[in-house]
Amino acid sequence: EKGMYPFYMLKEIDEQPAVLRRLAQTYVTEDGQTTIDDALLTHMSQSDRIYVVACGTSYNAGWATKHAIETMTGIPVELHVSSEVGYRLPMLSKHPFFIFLTQSGETADSRQVLVKVNELNLPALTITNVAGSTLSREATYTLLLHAGPEIAVASTKAYTAQVTLMNLLGKALGMKLDRQEARDFDIVHELGLAANAMDTIINEKEVIDQAMAQLLETTRNAFYIGRGADYYVAMEAALKLKEISYIQTEGFAAGELKHGTIALIEEGTPVFGLITDTLTGPHTRGNLKEVESRGANTFVIASEALAKESDQLVMANVHEFLTPLVTVVPTQLIAYYASLHRGYDVDKPRNLAKAVTVE
Ligand code: M6R
Repeated sequence: EKGMYPFYMLKEIDEQPAVLRRLAQTYVTEDGQTTIDDALLTHMSQSDRIYVVACGTSYNAGWATKHAIETMTGIPVELHVSSEVGYRLPMLSKHPFFIFLTQSGETADSRQVLVKVNELNLPALTITNVAGSTLSREATYTLLLHAGPEIAVASTKAYTAQVTLMNLLGKALGMKLDRQEARDFDIVHELGLAANAMDTIINEKEVIDQAMAQLLETTRNAFYIGRGADYYVAMEAALKLKEISYIQTEGFAAGELKHGTIALIEEGTPVFGLITDTLTGPHTRGNLKEVESRGANTFVIASEALAKESDQLVMANVHEFLTPLVTVVPTQLIAYYASLHRGYDVDKPRNLAKAVTVE
């Protein structure tokens, strides 16, 4: 039940720190051992490439964890949109391992790929929030997101649960492969810090509420920009905003703006900049300057280490593998309040269903 909440989406945003803590407890024992099935880890440790297949927000969650998994395991990770590989599988390595990311476990586009993968007798893992769902039943292995039911069409806690669980899997697999990069990542401790950072943002949601009343009440379009991890969150942030506020939004690799998209920036165009990546953050700042000089209204979401006084929202620093968990929260709230201020049914956007069971 949504209780005192006006919409499920807000409740589900609020639940995210608890979901992170629950996942850490479920998948790591008191003495730091993983509870992930050893048969799965053995199977994955023998693969030479991981193919992550998903749609929408789940696809974005895959991107947000590619770098962490590759670093911890040394195994390359490829991302594929289900509907693009349903008819023609991508070129496969000698020992491919498939991961299906799907909150509902019922997405027809993803299932179509799994059917093909099964026909080829290739191993697959479904990561889903719904025990006993179709993709869970039909894959070799399943890991559950333990996020609790997600009712709002706009996915929030399933995304953060997917990012968390992919990191837990990467850590366990990296340990199995005896990799220093995995040993160095104290995941339970780091997830605790990320959950605390989320809590802080959630407790200060009024700031976002007020800012969006101004910035997004009437605009027709908006942009999110970032580089590296911040680019992957920009893609998710844009999907969330367009999905429930109907504002046409693009998530962009900040460096790509100058190759065409900057032509769309006009007086008053809202541009959100995400700055948490130490390596690339300063360059995104440069891109924000460029759009400001063309009249854009910028809104900067930065981590403490990279923040400037003029930034609108500053977040606690967290481990580089986990920044998407924290950065995504203000963008979910931005979407929520934009939809609310425009007077829409936040939980039930037009033309969309919670589980997309058609091709
Ligand atoms: O259940 P799934 O994770 O397979 O669903 C995939 C997409 O349909 C879903 O993430 C969709 O993009 C959300 N409505 C986004 O908020």
